[in-house]
Amino acid sequence: MIIRPMKKSDLPQVMAIEKASFLAPWSEEQFLYELKENPFCSLFVAEEKEYIVGFIDFWITFDSGCINQIAVHPNLRQKGIASILMEDALKRLAGQGVRSVTLEVRTHNANAIKLYEKFGFVSRLIKKAYYDNGDDAVYMEKGLIS
Ligand SMILES: CC(C)(COP(=O)(O)OP(=O)(O)OC[C@H]1O[C@@H](n2cnc3c(N)ncnc32)[C@H](O)[C@@H]1OP(=O)(O)O)[C@@H](O)C(=O)NCCC(=O)NCCS
Repeated sequence: MIIRPMKKSDLPQVMAIEKASFLAPWSEEQFLYELKENPFCSLFVAEEKEYIVGFIDFWITFDSGCINQIAVHPNLRQKGIASILMEDALKRLAGQGVRSVTLEVRTHNANAIKLYEKFGFVSRLIKKAYYDNGDDAVYMEKGLIS
């Protein structure tokens, strides 16, 4: 498996994973904005034998990082793919001088929270009704030594 920057041609496979993974999936336009226009954005895919099996989207603003999305194909979960994506992203973030990484995750998304805790993220506060459907978010943070 390789981790590489996402290309526009990956969009159909990424969208399929996105739709299967999130309650409020991003649109193709949002991904295209992230890919082509957002100067703060990094989007990486995990590719196995020419198939996209997962992706991660993160932003870097000066010395702060933010994980926006991480998702793995539903049939390929619990095989360590998100961990590989996360490890790679954290190395890139540290390599670019990022000192603190944050994220929001739905309070009921126990699997994702476990993934983040595995990588040293700590819950800092609950953001009430953070999502459109009224779900609360856990705001998590991890310091990086760069
Ligand atoms: C969260 C998600 C990305 C994890 O992907 P994954 O490839 O299955 O994760 P990994 O196999 O690398 O597991 C990493 C850790 O997450 C936790 N975890 C992941 N899935 C789990 C499950 N079903 N049950 C319990 N723990 C789980 C474990 O702590 C695991 O570490 P361990 O195997 O050493 O115990 C995946 O479930 C997913 O795509 N979910 C939908 C999208 C989403 O919710 N994204 C996060 C919010 S942006």
